[in-house]
Amino acid sequence: MQPASLICNYFIFSFNPFLFTPMSTKENEVTLKKITAHCKEYGFVYGSSEIYDGLSAAYDYGPNGVLLKNNIKEFWWKSMVQMNENIVGLDASIFMHPSTWKASGHVDAFNDPLIDNKDSKKRYRADVLVEDHLAKIEQKINKEITKARKRFGEDFDEAQFISTHPRVVNYREQIQSIENRMKTAIAEDDLESFKNLIVDLEISDPVSGTKNWTDVRQFNLMFSTEMGSVSEGANTIYLRPETAQGIFVNFSNIQKSNRMKPPFGIAQIGKAFRNEIIARQFIFRMREFEQMEMQFFVKPGEEMQWYEHWKLQRMRWHNALGLGTAKYRFHNHLNLAHYANAACDIEFEFPMGFKELEGIHSRTDFDLLAHEALSGKKLRYFDPQENESYVPYVVETSIGLDRMFLAVLSAAYQEEVLEDNSERIVLKLPAALAPSKVAVLPLMNKDGLAEKAQAIFKGLKYDFTAQYDAKDAIGRRYRRQDTVGTPYCITIDHQSLEDDTVTIRERDSMKQERIPITDIARILEENVTLKKLLKSI
Ligand code: GAP
Repeated sequence: MQPASLICNYFIFSFNPFLFTPMSTKENEVTLKKITAHCKEYGFVYGSSEIYDGLSAAYDYGPNGVLLKNNIKEFWWKSMVQMNENIVGLDASIFMHPSTWKASGHVDAFNDPLIDNKDSKKRYRADVLVEDHLAKIEQKINKEITKARKRFGEDFDEAQFISTHPRVVNYREQIQSIENRMKTAIAEDDLESFKNLIVDLEISDPVSGTKNWTDVRQFNLMFSTEMGSVSEGANTIYLRPETAQGIFVNFSNIQKSNRMKPPFGIAQIGKAFRNEIIARQFIFRMREFEQMEMQFFVKPGEEMQWYEHWKLQRMRWHNALGLGTAKYRFHNHLNLAHYANAACDIEFEFPMGFKELEGIHSRTDFDLLAHEALSGKKLRYFDPQENESYVPYVVETSIGLDRMFLAVLSAAYQEEVLEDNSERIVLKLPAALAPSKVAVLPLMNKDGLAEKAQAIFKGLKYDFTAQYDAKDAIGRRYRRQDTVGTPYCITIDHQSLEDDTVTIRERDSMKQERIPITDIARILEENVTLKKLLKSI
């Protein structure tokens, strides 16, 4: 047998029937429908309780989905808690004392304005109806721009056209005026004006086509349930609509037990529940979802500097994944919530367009002060240097895990045409997030190849999520791994029995290389672990 060092550079590019370079990515649009179907077919996400026709806006993560989701969580957790000495973790309970939600403002103000159509009996969010109307006016502007660009060609000055063309100017004024009316109605909780706006805009129900609307009313988004039996004195409690409040009420516990000194953060991953009126677009808007939130406690006056810091850090975290910088953008909130002095979203280009993926908010001392007031307990930090106590200000980063899952999956999904004109669907997932890191494939199920492959598979399992697949032709097995995003396939053939080498196939390029078996773990270690990602933030 040859020593491994002599054979490590054998390439098998000269002839390999399974080596096809991707020629092109098909022009086919990546739609939410395709992603949803792919998720179901390949064990990523299923609708909840499907055998009973499902439950709207609730989803179950299948074998590949749960692995991908756990990897996203681990990436977030390690980047926050493991890599920052001044950030610690928490896992608070979902049920909290009902006063929590009174103090936070959720009981009184966590509402959506609702309106029903009397003919179709369908319910809508009033603000979404108005926003859809605004989007139609935007479309008219875009049509004018496209027409003008065609007419003027290279000389077309878009900015000048938008600010001078009478029809476009008129459309923009309409948008401004509608936005102003809606903002005022929301700010003043003036539901009658909201209804009048819908009537004035002559918005009709997309289902019945009529304008027969009820009044607008507020609908609280929190799910409630009862704790204890009625005879013991039932008590209405809520399923938490955000994980953040679990962090605020534990501020003093954590600060004291871990001797934390601002600036410091508390990170948490957990379920949140919202009775969304319009829950659609697959896992983008769910009624039960997971959040990854971090509250960063700072000295008052230093919050803006930390807000900028976390904006930058969070964008670096996203960019480290390599999904494409053009897929992200910041959207600054112009209308700030009453407790915030700065806020923005990181938006991602989902199949249905740019939408909120993560929120970064400078929440001032609102939450800690509100809990102090209602609980009567001090939530302050005593600064020994200044010899005074203060209520820290908070900068929050809050990302939906399910939305992140959808972002990663939709950016990774590609339909490719290969050199031989065959097609493949491949999930070009960041290797560290892929459900399985490696698949071990004996070329045939005879001559001792399976035994050799099993030995390799068993050795890799300790460190990597690995799959073993011995069914079907090798080309089909590669395609199967492509559809679930496995970055590497290891094939064991007759030569492996002679010289302890295997071929390693890389998912995106489909290139195959002959390597010694002893190199497999090192190659995987260098390319599929979180370490590389964490280092690149
Ligand atoms: N503690 C702040 C907070 O909860 P948010 O903007 O309401 O802020 C933060 O939510 C993130 O949670 C959002 O950016 C989004 O990613 C995710 N999220 C919110 N509602 C969701 C829903 N119904 N389904 C899935 N994810 C949701």
